[in-house]
Order: sequence, then structure tokens, then C-alpha cells
Amino acid sequence: MTITVIGTGFVGVVTAGVFAELGHQVYGLDVDQKKIASLNQGDLPFFEPELKELVLAGLQTKRLQFTTDYQVAIPDSQVIFVCVGTPSADSGAVDLTYVESALLEVAKYLKPEAIVVVKSTVPPGSFDHFAKIMQEVTKVPVALASAPEFLREGSAVSETRHPSRVVIGTTDDRVFTILRNLHQPLGAPILQISPASAQMGKYAANAYLATRITFINQIADLCQHNGADIEEVIKSMGFDPRIGNHFWYPGLGYGGSCFPKDVKELAYFSRTVGYGDNWFNSMQEYNEGRITRILDDVLVKVGRVDGQKIAVLGLSFKPNTDDTREAPALKVIPYLLQKGVAQIQVYDPQVQLSRTPFANHSEIDQVNQSTNIAQACQDADGIILLIEWPEIVEFEYSQIRNKSKNQWLLDARNQLDPQALSDAGFQYLSIGRTWNKSHE
Ligand code: UDX
Repeated sequence: MTITVIGTGFVGVVTAGVFAELGHQVYGLDVDQKKIASLNQGDLPFFEPELKELVLAGLQTKRLQFTTDYQVAIPDSQVIFVCVGTPSADSGAVDLTYVESALLEVAKYLKPEAIVVVKSTVPPGSFDHFAKIMQEVTKVPVALASAPEFLREGSAVSETRHPSRVVIGTTDDRVFTILRNLHQPLGAPILQISPASAQMGKYAANAYLATRITFINQIADLCQHNGADIEEVIKSMGFDPRIGNHFWYPGLGYGGSCFPKDVKELAYFSRTVGYGDNWFNSMQEYNEGRITRILDDVLVKVGRVDGQKIAVLGLSFKPNTDDTREAPALKVIPYLLQKGVAQIQVYDPQVQLSRTPFANHSEIDQVNQSTNIAQACQDADGIILLIEWPEIVEFEYSQIRNKSKNQWLLDARNQLDPQALSDAGFQYLSIGRTWNKSHE
């Protein structure tokens, strides 16, 4: 089958690569000529494990090619996936500009019986509008389906090869049969539901996962005040099969390109339909204010940071990606600068400081990138472990302990051994771990 995948972000490139791997002829399409030229050379505009190999294999077999030309790709294609971004406007409403312009281009060259599958996260109920604007451009009957994407950055390739489920939002049995056959080799359960349910299911899944994280963060905050240890609390709860022992490790709040945006959109949608007082508003507010609250608390515990040198470890929003969207570092670094920190040494295995929004920060001279963890931590008064990259977690911090200083270490992911760090002489700070009290 010939397939076009529009949008060459994480979802688009991975989807294109995996369908090429399954034996289809795939066009990856984007309006960004530079990106397309690089992709055709096998160069990715971002870091994602296993993806380069997947793209190179697709290019080599000639089953995968990248183009900016709708007129080449669309008339050939039986299935067209739309995987362009749907950013948030300030109000929280989703901005559908990219989806709409892709659909309008597709409509110009659509062949009869072709199916347009929207993978981009769009609000339930968008399809009437999409079909209407497309139908104004083409006489070919437009067949739209929704197939929300649930992959996580950092494990995007393996999760696309082995998805937990394939959700197909369509009421048209012909469309469902073609899409079911296309996805069948992935070996996942395939469900047919309405487009609106598929779209709502995507928002609800992300909001639910964000809720778990928010919930456990709130419990961790309470642990700071009552002598309980959050890691022990999690253990005690996780054995309950209704709860489970996964996806709720505490930290500085959820970030990334999906959770914050999707919760905001649900909050916005709730307000527009009369539910002004809704959980999503509260969750969003709590998550947004979390970093400042935690750092205020750290400041009280360590006494002062002005004039000091702090190491910040991890600039991406999570490990195994170079994506910095809604990364904690974007709030932590300005906070420290505002509190008068003299120097910040950052380290990240993939992210270059010059490619983050800090590049234009007025106090960027005070922020330096180190090439390794030891260099970042050298002579630091405080160390902040922001992201649990394996090498950051596995590093022996006792090796770089400077005995002439009262060094503190904030383990914002609760990944390190509190006893070992304490024995090494660090003031160990965490998110809701009261190990020193419970082990006394
Ligand atoms: C998420 C969803 O998991 C995925 O299904 C959807 O398609 C896109 O959004 P992603 O943003 O790539 O994926 O990352 P994820 O691993 O879910 O983490 C999101 C945020 O939550 C990160 O900031 C992460 O650090 C945080 N998180 C995650 C926690 O704080 N605790 C956890 O237990 C898990």
C-alpha cells in the first residue's frame, strides 16, 4: 500500500519508518525543506533511540522517502496520516492551524477511496469541521478517521512497533477494515469506536496519567510534613492490583509536549461548556506552581544560594530525548538566577544549552555547559538532579564531594541512595523521602 505521513516530528517520522518496515511504500511529508533534505540523508532533526536505524533502513530499501510535495505524494496514497503539531493557544484552546492547512493541501490531490487518518491530538467533534473545509476543495468524498497516538518519547520506536492498542475512530466499516488490516501486523488489540470517542480517549488517557503523577506529588508533599516516606508509601499501595506499581514516581511535576498541553485543553473545554470549577484547572495550576514551591522549600533548608555555584543535571524533559518542551530546567535555571546564584553549570547527555530557549536569556553568561557530570559538579555548593538519565543516576557523587563546602544535593527524581550520599557528607534533599527519620 502507498501511504503518506504528514508532519516529520516524533510521531510522523516513527509512523513513516514503521510502516516502511512493514513493507509499505511511504512518503514522509513536511513543509520544512531543510528538514526533508536532512531526513533524505538519514539525518534526524531530533534524538530518539532506534529511529535513525529505522529511517536509514527505510531509505535503503527505497520504501521510505521524504518530500515537501503534496502533489507527488497524495495522488498516489491510499492512506494519509496527519501527524502535525497541535500547540496550545494562551487560553488553553488547541491551535488547529497546522492540521487544517495539511488537510486543505491533501484535499486538493485526494484520490477516490483514499482515507485520511488524523493522528494529531484534536478536540472531539473536530471532524465535522474538517470534513466541511476539505469538501469545499474536493469533489472526492472525504473519508476521515481518527487514530490517536499513544507513544512516549524516548521509546517511540518500540512503542510504535508494539503498541498497547490501536484505536480507530470511524463509523465507516470500509475505512475500519482497511485500517485494521494495515495495523494488524503490529499484533495489538484493535478497536473501532466513534471519532469523537477516539479523540476524547486520547485526552482522557493523558489527563489520567498526569493525574496519577499529580496525585503522588501531592502525597509526597504531605510526607514532608508527617514523617512518612513517599517511596515506602508507593510500595505499600502498589501491591493493590487496582492501583499498580507504575507510572507515578514523584518529581517536580509532569512536563513534555503532551501532558501540560492536553490537560490545559481539557480545562479550557470544561470551562467553555459550563464546568468552570473542574479538576483539570486545579491540576494544571498545581503542576505549574510546583517547581517554585519545591525550590522555595529547598532554599529554606539549605539557607542560601546567592553568590553560589550550582550544578543542574538534565535539561531535557525526561531521559532519552533531547526535547526540552516544558522541561523542569526551563523553570529551575531562571529561578536560581533570580535568587542571585553566581554560576550554574549544566550537564545533559543530549541537549545543547545553545539550542534551548536559554540561548537568549539575559543572564546566559552565568550558565555554562559542562561536558561531563564531574565537571558540572566540581566545587558546586549545590547539585540538582533534574532528569534521571541513566548516567546521571549511576554517577558516584561521593567522588566529587568537596569537603571544604557544605554541599547539598536535591534528588528531584528520588533516584539516589540517601544513606550513601549522607555518609559522603552531602545534605540530601528529595521529594517526600524522609528516610533519615524513618531509619533513625
Ligand atoms: C506522554 C504519554 O505517556 C504518551 O502516551 C502520549 O502519547 C504523549 O505524552 P511523553 O510526554 O513522551 O508521553 O512522556 P512520559 O514518559 O509520559 O512523561 C511525561 C511527563 O511525566 C514527564 O515530565 C515525566 O518526567 C513525568 N512523569 C512520568 C513523572 O513525573 N512520573 C512518572 O511516573 C512518569
